[in-house]
Amino acid sequence: MKATAKAHTNIALIKYWGKRDEEKILPMNNSLSLTLDGFYTTTTVTFKEELEEDSFVLNEQVVTGEAFNRVTNFLNLIRQLAGKSDLYANVYSLNAVPTAAGFASSASGFAALAAAATRAIGLNVNEQELSKITRQGSGSACRSIYGGFSEWVKGEETDGSDSYAVPIVPADYWDVRVAAVVLNAEEKGISSRVGMKRTVDTSVFYQGWLDSVSNDLQAIKIGIQERDFEKVGQIAEANCLKMHATTLGANPPFTYWQDTTLNIMQTVQKMRETGIPVYFTIDAGPNVKVLYLPEHEELVEQTLKQADGVTDVILSRAGGGIAYL
Ligand code: DP6
Repeated sequence: MKATAKAHTNIALIKYWGKRDEEKILPMNNSLSLTLDGFYTTTTVTFKEELEEDSFVLNEQVVTGEAFNRVTNFLNLIRQLAGKSDLYANVYSLNAVPTAAGFASSASGFAALAAAATRAIGLNVNEQELSKITRQGSGSACRSIYGGFSEWVKGEETDGSDSYAVPIVPADYWDVRVAAVVLNAEEKGISSRVGMKRTVDTSVFYQGWLDSVSNDLQAIKIGIQERDFEKVGQIAEANCLKMHATTLGANPPFTYWQDTTLNIMQTVQKMRETGIPVYFTIDAGPNVKVLYLPEHEELVEQTLKQADGVTDVILSRAGGGIAYL
């Protein structure tokens, strides 16, 4: 009862920001992302009759506490679906995501865990079902089932049965690239989970966010189909700014940005003024991801590396969906 799966992380161009159900992880709005080849997690799950509890080893270190609880709670869900409630597992993961640099690894982590655990326990699920299961580990992870561009359709049902990701176009449809800019910044103080809850509960700007998402989504999907980089980049950057604006209207207000974050945003805008089409997006932390086209790779990398406060720049292409090894 052993299986290994690999999943890539994804970067949202239309952000998932806010839940309508905390426990089932049901979102307030649809979101859309690009799966990234450069950041992935490989996970092996082994269920064994003789085990009396789960264990989780990440990058050769035993994990305990909150991170372990999230994994074991997620395995409970899979055990329940398989009707094998007293079967425990060893989970062994390797993260090719620089977690220490504050990059979200929960997307690739939960997608790889869901794929490996369902297969190891003998659950026969299709990609849509796998996306629904993955969603309950971490929302954004449900988009990592697919490569290239994918959309998480929020659904309407209270049981979550229609809330899962769908593929838009595969990775080889369009060679869009992403530079992940690692900043010399402190670890994030407010997790995405806590930040989005506070925003939904208190932000005077939250309704404005919700009102604007469906137009962004419709327009960006056309841009992707047409391979219109400027259109896609403009919508993604504006959508990111709107998401971050909601945090300033929360009570108490907060922001994920640091001075280095603003510096990179300005560096990107200045590059654009010189005619290079580049756009940024930012998740629930200080680091910035920059979208660019292959012909500008060298210039983008050099410019970002020279900017103040930059520790590293990691380049990535579009990546594939779940793979079983
Ligand atoms: C800003 O998927 O980490 O990255 O569902 O609570 O686990 P949970 O949240 P998570 O939130 C990601 C938020 C985001 C935007 C996005 O990826 O769409």
